[in-house]
Amino acid sequence: MIVCSCNVLSDRDVRETLHSRSDRPSVASVFRNMGCEAKCGRCVRSIVSIVDQHAAARLDECGGSGDCDSCRADGLAA
Ligand code: FES
Repeated sequence: MIVCSCNVLSDRDVRETLHSRSDRPSVASVFRNMGCEAKCGRCVRSIVSIVDQHAAARLDECGGSGDCDSCRADGLAA
């Protein structure tokens, strides 16, 4: 499903970008890593939701301790 019509980004594109990068997940990093930028901003809520799901999945992987390489890379460590 297309989540950003201005840049023609799908939810799959966003998820793949989040999985392939080790920097802190954010809407800005999604756009930066995809080589584009926010234009109208209508997609921001959808991308925030995907970023939040990604962060939650990462916490589930390490048991929520925040003490794994993925959490540290994402800035989720306590
Ligand atoms: S829909 Fe994403 S910037 Fe317009």
